Amino acid sequence: MASTIITNIKQLVNVRDQFPLLRGKELSELPCVNNAYLIIEDDEIAGYGKMKDLPTVNGQGTRKIDASGQFILPAWCDSHTHIVFAGSRENEFVDKIKGLSYAQINANGGGILNSAKKLNETSEDELFDQAWKRLQEVGKLGTGAIEIKSGYGLSLEGEMKMLRVIKKLKDRSAISIRSTFLGAHTYPLEYREDHQGYLHILVEEMLPVIAKEKLADYIDVFCEKGFFSVEEMEIICRSAMGFGLKPKLHVNQLNSIGGIQSAVGLNAVSVDHLETMTDADTEALARSKTIGTLLPTAAFFLRMNYQPARQLIDSNCAIALASDYNPGSSPSGNMNFVLALSCIQMKMLPEEAVNAATINGAHALQLENELGSITVGKKANLIFTKPIPALSYLPYSFGTNLIDQVMIKGNFI
Ligand code: NIG
Ligand code: FE
Repeated sequence: MASTIITNIKQLVNVRDQFPLLRGKELSELPCVNNAYLIIEDDEIAGYGKMKDLPTVNGQGTRKIDASGQFILPAWCDSHTHIVFAGSRENEFVDKIKGLSYAQINANGGGILNSAKKLNETSEDELFDQAWKRLQEVGKLGTGAIEIKSGYGLSLEGEMKMLRVIKKLKDRSAISIRSTFLGAHTYPLEYREDHQGYLHILVEEMLPVIAKEKLADYIDVFCEKGFFSVEEMEIICRSAMGFGLKPKLHVNQLNSIGGIQSAVGLNAVSVDHLETMTDADTEALARSKTIGTLLPTAAFFLRMNYQPARQLIDSNCAIALASDYNPGSSPSGNMNFVLALSCIQMKMLPEEAVNAATINGAHALQLENELGSITVGKKANLIFTKPIPALSYLPYSFGTNLIDQVMIKGNFI
């Protein structure tokens, strides 16, 4: 057995014996141990405590690490991304600077359709290589678990290609990966006037094959004016749920059209985005077990109002933070910046932000028994910070890379 003992940790962050989904006030309680040690056996956390209680470790092969001045946190659990995509869309970025809106770009055949065109022209191997680089990049930035969506194929062949790439990433990476089928990301041009036709393909052609080949864990739909209606989302979700896929849904990004109420009725694991919330939406979410996943870098990049995090937390909602890494609305998967924005622009407390990006993110990935907190028996997915004065220094000094090392399943990456 390979053992590691880490000593003199300035602060060991988010230590928990029990790790329920946190909502409301609970989000601001972040249990930590100052001046701590941590023991790892193979890929798991085997023990921790205060330095004064450090057990004597004999064992010749034990790796010893001195973490003086450093904080150790559970690695980020990024529960919403689209990192399998082809190329980039910096032309649209410039169009937006010149005045076009996100919705206008989409209506002109840009946006998601632009990425779909690129993806369908890119080979599976090339797609894998591009996504692999992004996965390595976010790993070094502290992401230890990630959800990845399809949704740039928009045809049986294209969606299957994306889901096979995600499967390959799962097989080859130590980072834990969840896969989501987002065939309902936008209507392909030829089905703009024939929604029934595309719904038929989604439900009758794509879902049965995806389920048979076990290529997805979740179903997602972009529920939005000009994209998929609430009724269309329900049809797709009910069919997918019949195949064992649970809903994680894009709702309330640009408009509030009843997506939250419908998602809650479907027992969705999460509702994601939430830039545009009415009081009734917030109440419906607060009364449910569904997690509200906030994506502040998407609001930042599209110059939209930020998600009303304070109102959601103060209303007792359970919330998570994720990056939404994608070429159109968040071309960055840096969870450290997500954390900083959540504190700077959405007035989340640093403790709330860390909980939302670790244990609640793990819940949003349904990996809470393995990841998201410093707990004996969980995987050793850890962020080692550079020496810092306090936890709040992380979001405070936004843009500075304060990560010294990242450990995934017991190994430094
Ligand atoms: O989460 N809003 C829908 N989907 C993505 C953006 C996709 C794109 O523009 O490529 C999002 O923001
Ligand atoms: Fe998204």
